[in-house]
Amino acid sequence: MKKVIAIDGPSGAGKSTIAKLIARKLGFDYLDTGALYRAVAISLIKLGLKEGASDRDIEAALQKTDVEFNDGHIFLNGDDVSSEIRSPEAGHFASVFSARKPVREFLMKTQRDSAVNADIVAEGRDVTTVVFPHAFKKFYLDASIEERKKRRSLELISKGFEVNEDRIRQEIIERDARDSGRDIAPLKKADEACLIDSSGLSIEEVINKLMGYIRDN
Ligand code: DC
Repeated sequence: MKKVIAIDGPSGAGKSTIAKLIARKLGFDYLDTGALYRAVAISLIKLGLKEGASDRDIEAALQKTDVEFNDGHIFLNGDDVSSEIRSPEAGHFASVFSARKPVREFLMKTQRDSAVNADIVAEGRDVTTVVFPHAFKKFYLDASIEERKKRRSLELISKGFEVNEDRIRQEIIERDARDSGRDIAPLKKADEACLIDSSGLSIEEVINKLMGYIRDN
């Protein structure tokens, strides 16, 4: 296993932006674990599964599912689904299906394998606690709900989606409750992770905080 910088936190805290920039600065690969969960969710939906599907049906569908994250792009059964996974529906179903044991087990090897031959910056919900417990540096990136709502709205608008800010706020609250409240690998701050609240900070300020911590600790 090579060097891993692991960043967890809730949706909209800025993890993707920050992880990508840190990876570029350090010459590490970037691993977006949320993209893997989103691609799996799309596959399960396409195969006709609903929210309450049985573990057996999920396992059968996963046998027909191949996901790969490569150079910032996510592939589902060989097709580039990098844009498709960014829809609000894909985010919702990723959160729903990621609570299921077969899905988490299915993606464990893919995530760990990405650090076998390359130093990586990985971001997600359980990369500091479960996937890479021995990561070289760990961060928990947070931001206020209002700030996350603002960022999420801008992101969706830039991708051409229609935006209702009250609805986005509600979705953020529901997503937090689901991702932090599930039984398996819930989102939580690892004791040893450095907490950074990005509310009111520019991207550059957040990067400087992380880089300072990486250098000094
Ligand atoms: O980071 P994101 O919004 O792309 O993640 C989508 C969902 O995937 C998130 O709500 C929960 C799930 N997820 C997870 O359970 N574990 C991870 N390491 C990453 C994402």
